Parts: sequence; C-alpha cells; structure tokens
Amino acid sequence: MNDELLLKEAEEARKNSYSPYSHFPVGAALLCKDGSIFRGTNIENSSYPLCMCAERNAVYNAMIHGKKKGDFVALALIADTEEPCTPCGACRQVLHELLPSDARIIMANFKGNVLISSPEDLLPLAFSSKDLPNL
Ligand code: THU
Repeated sequence: MNDELLLKEAEEARKNSYSPYSHFPVGAALLCKDGSIFRGTNIENSSYPLCMCAERNAVYNAMIHGKKKGDFVALALIADTEEPCTPCGACRQVLHELLPSDARIIMANFKGNVLISSPEDLLPLAFSSKDLPNL
C-alpha cells in the first residue's frame, strides 16, 4: 500500500463527511500491519463541541473492529486546503497515544501537496501515560 493509494482511501472516506456547519469535509484512512484499511471522516453536530474529526474516527473505527494499539502503520488525511491539511491538537494527542511514534502520517490537499510526518514530530513533549502517577 503506497501513500497515493492510502490517500485515495481517505478521499473516498471524505465523501461520507457530515459537515453542514463548517462545510469542511475531511477524509482519513488508517493502514494496519495486516494491510487492512479503516476509513474515517468528520461528523459534526449542531452542538458544535460534539463534532468528531476524520482522524479520530478512523482510529476509533479500526479499534471498534478489533484492531489494537500496535496494529497501525500509517494514516492518510486529505481536505481541500491551501497547504496539506494537518491534524488538530486533539487528534495529535490520540495519534500519539495509539499509533507508533514513527508511524507515517500522510497529509495532503487536492493541489497535490503532500506532507509526511509522525505522531512524535506532530506532538513533541506530549502528555502521556508516563505522566500519570497511579499506573
Ligand atoms: N477536522 C477534521 O476532521 N480533521 C482535521 O484535521 C481538521 C478539522 C474537522 C472538524 C470539523 O468538522 C471541521 O473539520 C472544521 O474544523
């Protein structure tokens, strides 16, 4: 599975976005070690804080279907932005916890701009389980 194909999956996922408030559909696709792919798109709500991003929906979709932390290798993300669309802070926190620190995060727009990063680079000095005293 190359980046281009994973981005195509994200593009397909984006078609199912429910984003009547922002009019900003986003698509994501998460690649697992076994080659399976789970899609996510943003789902909004009239109670705005309940909106859920494409990236988190992709990860949660995979886990709902039985995938575990450690099963993931890459996540692609696409939106109609000037520069490659990058994940929000909340999604960075979730990606940091559930994907390997060096997972391939492929961010793109429809102009053909692509940016590659990793959960570690997207969220340096992250809060994590290491900071919790009771574990
Ligand atoms: N959104 C995502 O799904 N992913 C991102 O990386 C950026 C933001 C969604 C949340 C909301 O539905 C809309 O885009 C506008 O913020």
